[in-house]
Amino acid sequence: MAIPHSTRRKLVLILGILPLLFSCSGSASVDKRNPSAENTEPLSGASLYLQHCAICHGEDGKLGASGAKDLTMSKLDSNQVVQMIKKGKNAMPPMKELLETEENIGLVVSHLMKFRK
Ligand code: HEC
Repeated sequence: MAIPHSTRRKLVLILGILPLLFSCSGSASVDKRNPSAENTEPLSGASLYLQHCAICHGEDGKLGASGAKDLTMSKLDSNQVVQMIKKGKNAMPPMKELLETEENIGLVVSHLMKFRK
């Protein structure tokens, strides 16, 4: 015996709705995370530090990889730190090109000053 016509219509309806549901939830999650947001987000000292400095100095400034100094123990004033970042010293490479602007250098300096006790 064939499935009654009304039941078949319901089945078709359900099957028709399913992909709609999936596509809805899919686009909703895309909306939440605007892909262009990442580019417009202002750079923070913390993110610049993590990107360019943490590989040697560690997230908290204490790592000391490749002979890097412990930044929590540093006695340099902020001008000396700026010079350090721009010119480098021994195993520390100059970072001026990477950080691109004075403003970014300033952001990184104020971030690492927070490591000190
Ligand atoms: C390739 C590893 C490396 C990277 C990346 C690096 N450093 Fe260094 N850093 C060093 C080394 C090595 C020293 C010690 C230099 C010396 O005095 O011989 C140092 C020293 C320093 C000092 C001086 C500390 C003191 O009291 O003498 C500061 C400040 C500093 N780094 C900040 C930074 C910042 C900010 C960044 C990111 C923009 C950075 N470093 C990235 C290796 C690195």
